[in-house]
Amino acid sequence: MKLKGKVAIVTGASRGLGKAIALGFAREGADVVIAARSDVENPKFGGSIFKTAEEVKAIGQKALPVQCDVTSEDSVNAMVQKAQQEFGGVDILVNNAGVAFYAPVVETPLKRWEMVIRVNIIGAFLCCKTVIPLMVKRGGGSIINISSLAANDRHEDVPIPTGVAYGVAKAGLERFTFGLASELGKDNIAVNAIKPVRVVNTEGMRFWMADADKSEWQSPDKMVACAVFLAQQDACGVTATVASDDELVAWHGLII
Ligand SMILES: NC(=O)c1ccc[n+]([C@@H]2O[C@H](COP(=O)([O-])OP(=O)(O)OC[C@H]3O[C@@H](n4cnc5c(N)ncnc54)[C@H](OP(=O)(O)O)[C@@H]3O)[C@@H](O)[C@H]2O)c1
Repeated sequence: MKLKGKVAIVTGASRGLGKAIALGFAREGADVVIAARSDVENPKFGGSIFKTAEEVKAIGQKALPVQCDVTSEDSVNAMVQKAQQEFGGVDILVNNAGVAFYAPVVETPLKRWEMVIRVNIIGAFLCCKTVIPLMVKRGGGSIINISSLAANDRHEDVPIPTGVAYGVAKAGLERFTFGLASELGKDNIAVNAIKPVRVVNTEGMRFWMADADKSEWQSPDKMVACAVFLAQQDACGVTATVASDDELVAWHGLII
């Protein structure tokens, strides 16, 4: 068990990749805080924080489902406080909550542009700011940001399907990753970002790209293996890295 005795917060764990990572951490012995907005089954996508929590408990680990909107400072503070009360500290934070707006720039209302930036970057900032003091008390920790190839993909002829705001937000998240890593080396906290090379088959992607050819899509397993590997790091190990799942698997010989 690679994460035995560890406590992890996974944002956006009501479904999709966040849920898969939460379950992957539990299989490795971690107790998990399931943070997302859906406390009842989401009508569009399915999944809820309680559903994920049940599955974590079925694996034999403790789960704390907490309704949390990562764009709200009060909501993030309350979630982290509950984690502290329930588990006495936090070792791992996965900033996975993410949204895109699938439209060209001229058709993107300001509030949608702001929402994409708020969830993907401001959410990660608020969660880090609130969790870091708890990790410092533990003597170290690991922060994992979930990015996307959209951060630096340049298709000359094909518009980015997930919208430019999403790419801008993920580029910001990557810059945040190595900036924060250099601040937190002295506190023994690793900060890394990972992104899948192929589309991960999640509820969100199935909804937004219903008509897409899914033959090349992958299960979340490789991203989960990468997250488990990064969750074991502190500042003496892998930090300040922004890598794809394929790169991490090759560089560190990860077994899926
Ligand atoms: N799937 C892929 O191929 C792919 C590729 C590259 C990167 N990613 C990244 O991977 C992450 C997960 O994507 P996914 O495909 O699993 O998407 P998904 O199925 O749509 O799941 C998104 C998760 O984010 C949560 N979320 C959204 N807004 C939130 C908010 N304001 N506060 C808290 N939680 C919020 C959702 O929960 P609630 O609705 O319950 O709040 C949900 O659990 C995202 O960061 C995405 O950008 C995915």
